[in-house]
Amino acid sequence: MATVYNWQLGRNMSYPYNAAFPQWQFAFVFNLNRCLGCQTCTMACKSTWTFARGQEQMWWNNVETKPYGGFPQHWDTKILKIIEDIAPGSAVWNPALAAPNAPYGVFNGYTIFEAAARAGINEQAVGYLPPDKEWRFPNIYEDAATGYAGKPGEFSNPTGTTLPTHSQWFFYLPRLCNHCQYPACVAACPRKAIYKRPEDGIVLIDQSRCRGYRKCIEQCPYKKPMYNPYTRISEKCIACYPRVEGKDPLTGNVPTETRCMSSCPGKIRYQSLAQLNADGTWLNNPASPLYYMVHVEKVALPLYPQFGTQPNGYYIPPRWVPRPYLLQMFGPEVDSAIAKYMAPSRELVAILQLFRASQKIIFTYKRIDGPLLYSTTINGQPWSLYNDTVIGYGKDGAEIVRVTVEEPVHTRDANYYYNSI
Ligand code: SF4
Ligand code: SF4
Ligand code: F3S
Repeated sequence: MATVYNWQLGRNMSYPYNAAFPQWQFAFVFNLNRCLGCQTCTMACKSTWTFARGQEQMWWNNVETKPYGGFPQHWDTKILKIIEDIAPGSAVWNPALAAPNAPYGVFNGYTIFEAAARAGINEQAVGYLPPDKEWRFPNIYEDAATGYAGKPGEFSNPTGTTLPTHSQWFFYLPRLCNHCQYPACVAACPRKAIYKRPEDGIVLIDQSRCRGYRKCIEQCPYKKPMYNPYTRISEKCIACYPRVEGKDPLTGNVPTETRCMSSCPGKIRYQSLAQLNADGTWLNNPASPLYYMVHVEKVALPLYPQFGTQPNGYYIPPRWVPRPYLLQMFGPEVDSAIAKYMAPSRELVAILQLFRASQKIIFTYKRIDGPLLYSTTINGQPWSLYNDTVIGYGKDGAEIVRVTVEEPVHTRDANYYYNSI
């Protein structure tokens, strides 16, 4: 049992596995305010990696309609309940203790690893194996909204943004393996068949070692390893590692976004790699859009950080959803993250232009001042939009893309055919 520092929890925790930290860490930011639930990402992954016999029920990337949907069904509420039953009422954050190495404050509850120790069960982490029927639907309850009868003003941020409370709400939650810093799947496997790559932190199942014990499926709180009943071994998202390595000739052999990221028509996805310090914390680099969104503005938050695996999928929370629901899902920075997204800083506006601007992975960016487009007030505060130019650079420092905040208007030549079909 190792003692490790989990910066998302703001404290040390027990992790039942010893491993060095990678140099770089695969990570992504999804803007949930923009996801349209089109499942293009889902099909991009399916048609690339899981179209063979025995993979019919596998959706390494899935998009589920919250609050009712889930793949597998109820994956999050079930694990939350397991922990709650072991340590009732303990899942509480103390945001007052926020510090540079504890950006969300301190989580006082039990992680999946600590809950197992508290319950005295002979497992690395608490979990459960979903029955077959819970894997049947990739997006059951699609578009099913829930009503909310809250008290007036209950979901307003008293210090910032006031939002209209919708009486009906749902949102789409795209998910894939989080390539966690402290993966439960790695710790759980009795065969040591799962490993985390030192070069990019991608978590892979060694297909030649796996014997189908399914402890990885049981103990991954996100339920992202999946069992192949034909080969009788398990598989999971491989983060399209040949593309991340720059093996795809399409982009001239530079690090390239995964299939699910690069296919997103809603432009909700930004993917990159975070450079890590020797102790596993993120190297301070505000020129990295990833670092900026996660650590400087804290507008992108981890999914269920309280599970303790330190996931590397980050989400800009949807602004219309009742805050207690989001607080449980993304932690105590939710109000602040939404307030910042509603009145974005000039830097954040620039970075948001880089979402899906290229298939090549953008590592750093630069913003060049442009003219004022317009000014207004948001929540009583002055706010201005500028037509800045944003340049994205690759790992080698070469320019990948150059965009402006205002989309350029292209006028069709009057001599063109009206319809080219
Ligand atoms: Fe492992 Fe699950 Fe984390 Fe992926 S999301 S690395 S499968 S624990
Ligand atoms: Fe599938 Fe690649 Fe996306 Fe993983 S990163 S869900 S393997 S498309
Ligand atoms: Fe291990 Fe999971 Fe295979 S627990 S043996 S990687 S099914």
